[in-house]
Amino acid sequence: MSIQSAIVIGSGTMGRGIAQVAATAGLTTFMYDQNAEQVKSAQGAIEKSLNKLVEKGKLPGETAEAAKNNLKPISSLNDADFSKVGIAIEAIFENFDAKKALYADLTSKLSADAILASNTSSISITKLAAATDRPQRFIGMHFFNPVPLMSLVEVIRGIDTADATVETVESLAKQMGKNPLRCNDMPGFVSNRVLMPLINEAAFALMEGVADAPTIDEIMKQGCNFPMGPLTLADFIGVDVCLNIMEVLHRDLGDPKFRPCPLLRKMVDAGHMGRKSGKGFHDYAG
Ligand code: 3HC
Repeated sequence: MSIQSAIVIGSGTMGRGIAQVAATAGLTTFMYDQNAEQVKSAQGAIEKSLNKLVEKGKLPGETAEAAKNNLKPISSLNDADFSKVGIAIEAIFENFDAKKALYADLTSKLSADAILASNTSSISITKLAAATDRPQRFIGMHFFNPVPLMSLVEVIRGIDTADATVETVESLAKQMGKNPLRCNDMPGFVSNRVLMPLINEAAFALMEGVADAPTIDEIMKQGCNFPMGPLTLADFIGVDVCLNIMEVLHRDLGDPKFRPCPLLRKMVDAGHMGRKSGKGFHDYAG
């Protein structure tokens, strides 16, 4: 099935990135957020990002202009043309009940054969799928931040996801210029199962005084060729997001090796969430 139109729900960091790559791929892309201000600011950020990619010679000017026209920011679901939408990609905050409530509303509007994908980084795809009317057409489509620059989409099938859904989503990811890689539905999938314990361990190293934050980051950058040190990356992702994923790994896998570092908890309690709050492991004031 070839998809001509998509709706992305949520216009935060991930939602706006996903909407950008969908619009750039030529899809009529509805970007929905119930917060009208947020959707407007997301549209501005997407236009800025497209202009930057053109300036850097990474995107032809005509493609960027077409992407801007393909993008339809909306703050009411009733403003989307659901008769043409072949896929809904949900990228709201990580709360099962909120996602379930959204899916109930969304699936009453989506056509019966449309796919519903979630960009969740930690909630079970099988559990989310079971909360919808379409477990066979439900799938995990996990993008990476910053979405316009990162090549991977982790494609996660739930227990009932149909082969045809996996194939359609893989070809859509390729159309978006991404490389889809499949994995099964287990807590953290592959990416966060491996990445988050690394970030967590860097936080333990800091807490235990092994080195200060800039040194830990530089050691991993220079010694392991990481593009960003793990603590800088935690600030980039959001310290609260990292803690939440560690809690899911710890709870759902039941293995003490996934114990969240107490420093992560203390930072979240203090509001030190990383770049978005101006302070995390590093300072972003100004
Ligand atoms: N659109 C357009 N340009 C963008 C952009 C965007 N959305 N985001 C950043 N840029 C630009 C920057 O403004 C900067 O421009 P400048 O050169 O004019 O200042 C440029 O891209 C960044 O260039 P740099 O030379 O600083 O860095 P690189 O190009 O070498 O790489 C990077 C940038 C790709 C972000 C690299 O640092 C990287 O790979 N970092 C790790 C990212 C990562 O691991 N992401 C995954 C997080 S985990 C996740 O998302 C999963 C979730 O479930 C938690």
